[in-house]
Amino acid sequence: MKIPSSSSLVFTFLILSPTVLLLLQHPVGALPLYTNSRWIVDENGSRVKLACVNWVSHLKPMLAEGLSQQPLDVISKRIISMGFNCVRLTWPTFMVTNDSLASMTVRQSFQSLGLLDSIAGIQVNNPSLLDLSVIQAFQVVVSNLGDNNVMVILDNQVSKPLWCCNKCDGNGFFGDKYFKPDIWLEGLSAMATMFNGTSNVVAMSLRNELRGPRENTVDWYRYVYTYIHTYIAKMIYSSYGSVLILHHFLRYMQKGAETVHAANPNVLVIFSGLNFDSDLSFLRNHQVKLTFNGKLVFEFHWYSFTNGNIWENGNPNQVCGSKLNNVMTSAGFLLEQGWPLFVSEFGVDQSGTNVNDNRFFNCFFGIAAELDWDWALWTLVGSYYIRQGVSGVEETYGVLNYAWNDIQNPSFLQRISTLQTPFQGPGVSNVRPYNIILHPLTGLCVVQSYSVKEPLRLGSCVDQSEAWSYTREKNTLGLKGTYFCLQADGLGKPAKLGVFCSDATSKWEAISDSKLHLSSKLINGTTVCLDIDSNNTIVTNSCKCLSKDHTCDPASQWFKIITSLRT
Ligand SMILES: *[C@@H]1O[C@H](CO)[C@@H](O)[C@H](O)[C@H]1NC(C)=O
Ligand SMILES: *[C@@H]1O[C@H](CO)[C@@H](O)[C@H](O)[C@H]1NC(C)=O
Ligand SMILES: *[C@@H]1O[C@H](CO)[C@@H](O)[C@H](O)[C@H]1NC(C)=O
Ligand SMILES: *[C@@H]1O[C@H](CO)[C@@H](O)[C@H](O)[C@H]1NC(C)=O
Ligand SMILES: *[C@@H]1O[C@H](CO)[C@@H](O)[C@H](O)[C@H]1NC(C)=O
Repeated sequence: MKIPSSSSLVFTFLILSPTVLLLLQHPVGALPLYTNSRWIVDENGSRVKLACVNWVSHLKPMLAEGLSQQPLDVISKRIISMGFNCVRLTWPTFMVTNDSLASMTVRQSFQSLGLLDSIAGIQVNNPSLLDLSVIQAFQVVVSNLGDNNVMVILDNQVSKPLWCCNKCDGNGFFGDKYFKPDIWLEGLSAMATMFNGTSNVVAMSLRNELRGPRENTVDWYRYVYTYIHTYIAKMIYSSYGSVLILHHFLRYMQKGAETVHAANPNVLVIFSGLNFDSDLSFLRNHQVKLTFNGKLVFEFHWYSFTNGNIWENGNPNQVCGSKLNNVMTSAGFLLEQGWPLFVSEFGVDQSGTNVNDNRFFNCFFGIAAELDWDWALWTLVGSYYIRQGVSGVEETYGVLNYAWNDIQNPSFLQRISTLQTPFQGPGVSNVRPYNIILHPLTGLCVVQSYSVKEPLRLGSCVDQSEAWSYTREKNTLGLKGTYFCLQADGLGKPAKLGVFCSDATSKWEAISDSKLHLSSKLINGTTVCLDIDSNNTIVTNSCKCLSKDHTCDPASQWFKIITSLRT
């Protein structure tokens, strides 16, 4: 299935011009960071929204990717010019705990892997790094990001340098072959100490994507008891097992957090969930207990392929609705409980041709805007020095191209810029909360045209977004500061602004399992949904593929009413 043609049209007038890029830059506030309920804030208490990109530095060469392709400073400047304010920089434990790895120079590390082309590339682009130790090179990367006003989150991705993650790679859970708790704590402590006082290092995530057989208590019981006891064991597990494993798990995570905090009291500590960081539900009735406050953040990962090809093979409204429920019970509830949630990995194939990813991302986009969570996109990387034994592997999820010298998909970046600044939170502005009508497929919002005679259209959510007021009792969408409200006028016709706001054509209801269709009625009673035409004009059409059908994509009709404080 092709992507709806509207998406390509939308961006023809939205090229990333230097002025746009300038607007996208949000300098780092007063560091260090703290938490205030569900918000991450600076020293003045103003919200700092983490809008990060993942930069891989945990693979066998133990050097941040791309440095054979472009100078470090060029890459750092590009990160900030693309609107990201931080990097989630991954590192492997053994880089700091294993002396023979830690003392390797960059040149030796690449030589040991036979990556002579990469050495030649580093010689050209970053010659000063070649004869530094891998740890020194890591520090240089962090420091250059700091010089460019980019915050850094140190992410302990694995123990042994390798591509992450599968269940049986020995790096998944406490006690696995390469995951000895004491070595892990030693690594966290060394890293936290190394960057104590480095102000742009604002957070450390304790461990990426816990996973694997060891976190499965049913199996654990199965091995411990004889076959005859399995049935009883399962019963015990169902009542106590999850509590036992939770205590075990939390004990280690709490230790990790205390270790980091003792060595570096400035950083936020980030807790990953179970099952590849897709599950934090165990925290609902059982919060982590730490000796310090105002520093704890939770992270969560969400990809389309977490659920196979479900997005492509199912009806997008139904899949989106059910996944949103899952996300809320697995992690989203934390925001309601007053904890920051950092969606530290998500991403899509940047070619734009992956239907499963595209559908996922339309759904992701709406909730990411609504909940206004902190996030880190996977990934900056356009290509890897070596990954899973193959050198020069392309990264289809990378925002940069293979040669790291250009943006892979400018329209994707334009779209995500809508999520880079906060909608809500302390210090965002003094205005009273209002609503915007977001169109996830384009990342744009419903705005008035340049002249009142012209129909409503899609425009930027950042600097020209219209203020609406949606009242759930009346279901009307009023244009703030006016008597006008949004009305359905006819099939395929532009939605109009009218002043008689009490009839059925002015009632808008979020329908379908995804609740992403805004539906109203025509004067003759026909149900219609808000949509866009090929010129990005806001129109009403028959509602598309509300359920069952998996061949059609309703995303042009997906709109989300978001609360905003942006000025
Ligand atoms: C924090 O507050 C101080 C004092 O009011 C001010 O000088 C500074 O610019 C503020 N910093 C930020 C990032 O808002
Ligand atoms: C350190 O790393 C080297 C190279 O991978 C490995 O051979 C050695 O066993 C490691 N040492 C320890 C103590 O883990
Ligand atoms: C970390 O740095 C602070 C100053 O920023 C210092 O007071 C503290 O002793 C340092 N902690 C460690 C463990 O080095
Ligand atoms: C209502 O009007 C639309 C045209 O605006 C038309 O297509 C539709 O058939 C009408 N429905 C009924 C029930 O008359
Ligand atoms: C889009 O705009 C062009 C040029 O203004 C116009 O010719 C075309 O009819 C419009 N398309 C729609 C669907 O309104």
